Amino acid sequence: MTITETAPASNDLTTTRAPFIEEAKGRGDLFIHQPYELYSEENHETWRRLYAALVPQWQRFAHPRFIEGLNNLALTSERVPRLEEINEFLEPLSAFESKAVSGYVPAYLFFDCLRQREFPTTITIRDARSLDYLPEPDIFHDLAGHVPMHTDRTFSDILVRFGEVAATAAKMSRDLDSSRRTKVTSSVIKAMARFFWFTVEFGLMKRPKGGAARLETVDEPVAPADTELCVYGSGLLSSREEIEYSIVSDEVQRYPFRLEWVANQYFEIDHVQPLLFYVDDFDHLFAEVERLEEWVLSGRLDNVAPGEPLVNEQDLQSFLDAG
Ligand SMILES: [Fe+2]
Repeated sequence: MTITETAPASNDLTTTRAPFIEEAKGRGDLFIHQPYELYSEENHETWRRLYAALVPQWQRFAHPRFIEGLNNLALTSERVPRLEEINEFLEPLSAFESKAVSGYVPAYLFFDCLRQREFPTTITIRDARSLDYLPEPDIFHDLAGHVPMHTDRTFSDILVRFGEVAATAAKMSRDLDSSRRTKVTSSVIKAMARFFWFTVEFGLMKRPKGGAARLETVDEPVAPADTELCVYGSGLLSSREEIEYSIVSDEVQRYPFRLEWVANQYFEIDHVQPLLFYVDDFDHLFAEVERLEEWVLSGRLDNVAPGEPLVNEQDLQSFLDAG
């Protein structure tokens, strides 16, 4: 049963209950504007409560570049941000831009937006009664969880490179024999989704011990004994309950990133993650994206292990149409 069936409709921009979004979807409009006047006081209060709860967690566990991004974007706890204001700060730093969307973006389209330095951004915000459970992404996850990382030039280049891998995969798919095209393309999409999940959404990274307090040393080589793990994945950065858990809990397995493992590792989205992977730094992550493309081309991702995430018809078709 979905929230749409149980909760009353609102006239604001609450996730799954916003008439503005339903009307846009009804017209088939994927890219929309942010109707800022529709945010209710309750919507702004939800943003305030989430932001206030996360600030002390970010200071302890977030990657230093994320903290810098928060400052550079002038994000605040006071109200839901306007995308156009965020973009004014973001564009000079990395040429990235947040673009409002009405909802789900098929996989190829999503990755192709990244290639063009555009980030599809949800504009609704979660229900005030369920701050910790998200039926789908919301503006807090997208703007407070993802966009601060986009201020970093290297990280933004990683996203662009990932979008280029999707283009490579679509071209590879086009050249396949029709009897194999669906199966192989689905497998490659699954591998890409797993890569994205265990890095951009739930990735951990090494940082110098002392973390945010030692921002000035982050680019200098450090001995392994002087490093600790921090969070750069947006799913963790936007979760009150999971960010600390991801770093300190004995229940979480944390392993060095291995492409052959990640590409074959299923995940479930509806509970805290028991398995996370860490990279050394942004250069390491960039190199792994390059390797992902090599594996697309060499056929190593043609038959990855089954399981989550499921590749739906829209995702598959978006790749087939792009090839
Ligand atoms: Fe996300």
